[in-house]
Amino acid sequence: MEISLRKIKTSDAKYIAKILSNKEVLKTLDPKHPFPVPIDYVKNKIPLDKENWKKGSAYKFVILGDDKVVGQISLYNPDKNKKSYEVGYFIGYDYWNKGITTNAVKQIIEFGFKKLNLEKVWSVVPKRNPASIKVLKKAGF
Ligand SMILES: CC(C)(COP(=O)(O)OP(=O)(O)OC[C@H]1O[C@@H](n2cnc3c(N)ncnc32)[C@H](O)[C@@H]1OP(=O)(O)O)[C@@H](O)C(=O)NCCC(=O)NCCS
Repeated sequence: MEISLRKIKTSDAKYIAKILSNKEVLKTLDPKHPFPVPIDYVKNKIPLDKENWKKGSAYKFVILGDDKVVGQISLYNPDKNKKSYEVGYFIGYDYWNKGITTNAVKQIIEFGFKKLNLEKVWSVVPKRNPASIKVLKKAGF
């Protein structure tokens, strides 16, 4: 499967809402999500995603597997340190354990260092999420 990243757009909302409407996917993410996740809940955030992209405060991409939306990955800058961004991601349950997120993390790091000129990309992962820890290790963290 060919994995690529593309800046999120409004028409992605239905795919992202579907991916998030899975208890396994949501388990390790923000517990405040409604369930199932409504399309408008995702759609209403996309204007802010676009604004953040312009300001450089966050870069949200969809992960494409053979041109189909299979997940999401972002770089964001919660502490406003211009050179140090956090990476976050999730992938549709049907696509787990195929190396897709590892591939996507490598691509976003390349974007961060080459296009944004970052000094550091970091992440915080709870111990109860060994798959995510493994992704980061495989991507060189
Ligand atoms: C974490 C997540 C993004 C991983 O995505 P993925 O595309 O399946 O990741 P990859 O296939 O690239 O790598 C996963 C690795 O973890 C391993 N793994 C999976 N479950 C595991 C477990 N319970 N314990 C240890 N390793 C595990 C896989 O075997 C694989 O390693 P391998 O390639 O050496 O076999 C995905 O599970 C997900 O979306 N989870 C919900 C959202 C989330 O937790 N996001 C991160 C928040 S910190």
